[in-house]
Amino acid sequence: MAFLEIRNITKRFAGQAALEDVSADIDKGEMVCVLGPSGCGKTTLLRIIAGLETADSGSVYIDGGDCTSQPPGKRNFGIVFQSYALFPNMTVSDNIMFGLHRRRGLGREEMRARVDDVLGMVDLLEHRNKYPRQLSGGQQQRAALARAIAPAPSYLLLDEPLSALDAKVRVRLRGEIRGIQRALGITAVMVTHDQEEALTMADKIIVMNNAAVVQTGTPREIYDRPATPFVANFIGFMNFYPAPEGVCAIRPERIELTGATDGCDMVAEIKGFEFKGAVTRIHGVLPRQTEICVDVASEKADALDVRASDRMYLRIPKEHLLRYPASAAI
Ligand SMILES: Nc1ncnc2c1ncn2[C@@H]1O[C@H](COP(=O)(O)OP(=O)(O)OP(=O)(O)O)[C@@H](O)[C@H]1O
Ligand SMILES: [Mg+2]
Repeated sequence: MAFLEIRNITKRFAGQAALEDVSADIDKGEMVCVLGPSGCGKTTLLRIIAGLETADSGSVYIDGGDCTSQPPGKRNFGIVFQSYALFPNMTVSDNIMFGLHRRRGLGREEMRARVDDVLGMVDLLEHRNKYPRQLSGGQQQRAALARAIAPAPSYLLLDEPLSALDAKVRVRLRGEIRGIQRALGITAVMVTHDQEEALTMADKIIVMNNAAVVQTGTPREIYDRPATPFVANFIGFMNFYPAPEGVCAIRPERIELTGATDGCDMVAEIKGFEFKGAVTRIHGVLPRQTEICVDVASEKADALDVRASDRMYLRIPKEHLLRYPASAAI
């Protein structure tokens, strides 16, 4: 039995579905990312798991117990939001202490030790006496994480905790959050609309679109075997081209360049080159004006000696080719 079980949750706001028959299983100690475009229902799902929102129908089980109608205070979770939500008039230490006061009957010394403990985990010991406004965005988010984990909750909920931060800090904090989550062995559900964040951090990804779950799987499964064209297109870049029996799809890094006589599958006219650092994306068009992109290592691209309006000969490895029915919407 999964630690967190979400069963057939439906939630409407003014007749409009925010969640439509959503189910998910989250195992103990697992880091699960809920990924999807803006407005697809991610925050609503997280709030229902927290008990901050009531579902119209469906159930939530935590550790085998039905907690569908339990108030948030009874559910023993820690939560981190996109905006730091620290108390501005309290120091970092006092912010963390506040959560401990509410949750547990600890003695003063034990509480102090626990505050030091979590401040050490998020590397903020030397900033303990600062007020939130004296901290950088990344430090504030680490303080919010420390506050969430201090009472030793049985699971952690994170709603886009990194999206207000700049790119460098975001990437560093991904690793830090993941490291702490692993070290504590705590079950975590993190909402994000950033596919790279989900791919790098999650044990399991739940992809949502239009109030529904469209696929659940490991990052590798979701990337290599997207269940629908929507998932394929939302995660990474995907080439699509029409075929007699539907739509074919292939990742640009899976296409191989061959010589004209080496048994190629397709010929494209080169339209341009996009240098992306380690790889160069070659943009081309197939007959009937279907665009196609091929990623090659930049070193190799330099050595190719091709230019715009040249032809490129493509081999499509069958094991990496995906097929969808023509009716599947992207
Ligand atoms: N309290 C509310 N009252 C009315 N409508 C709401 C409420 N909360 C959410 N909604 C609507 O429900 C839908 C899902 O919202 P939700 O906040 O769950 O999306 P989200 O996936 O978290 O989006 P984002 O990535 O932009 O945060 C949206 O159409 C939203 O407008
Ligand atoms: Mg949201």
